[in-house]
Amino acid sequence: MVGKFFLCMLTKQEISTISKRYDERLELEGDWAKVGYVSNKSQLLRFQVLSKIAQLVGKPFHQASVLDVGMGLGGFYQYLLEQGQVPRHYSGVDILTKMVNLAQQKFPPEQFPCVTFEKANILCHNLRPANYVICSGALTPRVTNNKKYFISMIGRMIELATFGVACNFLTIRCTKPKPELFYYDLKIIKQWVGETISANHQVYFHDNYHPFDVTMFVIKKITG
Ligand SMILES: C[S@@+](CC[C@H](N)C(=O)[O-])C[C@H]1O[C@@H](n2cnc3c(N)ncnc32)[C@H](O)[C@@H]1O
Repeated sequence: MVGKFFLCMLTKQEISTISKRYDERLELEGDWAKVGYVSNKSQLLRFQVLSKIAQLVGKPFHQASVLDVGMGLGGFYQYLLEQGQVPRHYSGVDILTKMVNLAQQKFPPEQFPCVTFEKANILCHNLRPANYVICSGALTPRVTNNKKYFISMIGRMIELATFGVACNFLTIRCTKPKPELFYYDLKIIKQWVGETISANHQVYFHDNYHPFDVTMFVIKKITG
């Protein structure tokens, strides 16, 4: 059992729906397309914004460990590599076996000894904590109860992070919503966060970089 989160939240049916969606996408050209972005630029933009967590905390990635939740093909690791910000350890988890296998092929352990990939659902598996927990795109699937899913995922990410969490999500500002994705109302998110998180941690939102994507940063108190 993991912390106080007793529900894994995603049913077998939901995982199978997510899996089917990505299976179809994996045929597409370009890693950004395979993992569901509309362009390489929009994937990079999200990584640029997520990486601001290191400035907010004041500890660069190269001095830290990273847990990437729903890492897909390890795009965020590639981004850090290109920025010369290779973390001391990078661990990617994803609920889909195919993503894990493809990411492992892209970053083989012989060449990337400080990189690991694992098939895991953070809500029901015990994972090693990391300084930074990053999550790009894993909050987007429409599930039975997106409020519970969002709060559980954020709560678990905070539990696993020692410095801070950066995650993004889609919002109702989107004018062409897709039925399989969930678009959150930022006002309601701020309310949920106010009720559950902000009493204990510093929380910031970055919402002016994209028409309908928002990034949330949670800064934990660093001890020691
Ligand atoms: C939009 S893709 C983004 C992949 C990667 N983060 C990136 O930005 O390139 C979302 C990924 O999250 C994974 N995912 C969705 N829900 C998840 C969950 N609850 N736990 C772990 N991974 C999840 C999917 O399998 C998929 O690989």
